[in-house]
Amino acid sequence: MTNSASYQNPQIICATTLEDKQKCIEVRIQVFIKELEYPPEVESLDTLDSVATLWLATCEKAGDGDDSKTTTIPVGTIRMLPYDDDDTVCVLSRLAVVSEVRGMKLGQKLVEAFEQGAKDAGKKAIMVQGVAEKRGFYEALGYTVETDEAYIKDGSPHYQFWKRNL
Ligand SMILES: CC(C)(COP(=O)(O)OP(=O)(O)OC[C@H]1O[C@@H](n2cnc3c(N)ncnc32)[C@H](O)[C@@H]1OP(=O)(O)O)[C@@H](O)C(=O)NCCC(=O)NCCS
Repeated sequence: MTNSASYQNPQIICATTLEDKQKCIEVRIQVFIKELEYPPEVESLDTLDSVATLWLATCEKAGDGDDSKTTTIPVGTIRMLPYDDDDTVCVLSRLAVVSEVRGMKLGQKLVEAFEQGAKDAGKKAIMVQGVAEKRGFYEALGYTVETDEAYIKDGSPHYQFWKRNL
């Protein structure tokens, strides 16, 4: 963790431009590949962004030392995917917040932006395949494990979390 005091004014936008979508991918690479050491193929072979809605979180970061310039940097992302052939359900995927700004509620705000997007798109339920160690995070946000049995995905234990009746 961090010096989160130097990160201000968090914003979340729906990433519609190629540039913003690329920033989402860069955050995912930083968190999942570089930090958590998932195999690079998890990102390089992923083709689902073409059917996804992405959100990007940014913060303003104060310059260090003599450099007083403030820059806006990408710090988090989340994406919505279709769920099999059920149009009323969507999948919450690739939630990531860079380590420097964790604990500032950006994860929660990204999930809230996602949920608003899901409602606006007429979805009635959300499913997440989440890592087991984040169970507390999802449960605090109202998601429940319906089958209390973890399974291995991308090399680590996961649960399926659901939020229904949006
Ligand atoms: C999961 C992640 C997105 C959370 O982001 P964050 O911005 O630090 O989370 P927030 O600050 O919004 O936390 C919201 C609440 O959840 C809690 N929380 C966070 N991680 C938790 C965990 N593993 N277990 C229980 N509670 C947790 C926080 O303490 C906070 O609780 P509070 O409201 O009582 O203070 C971030 O840790 C991350 O990117 N991790 C690496 C990638 C990852 O694991 N993604 C999820 C894949 S399923």
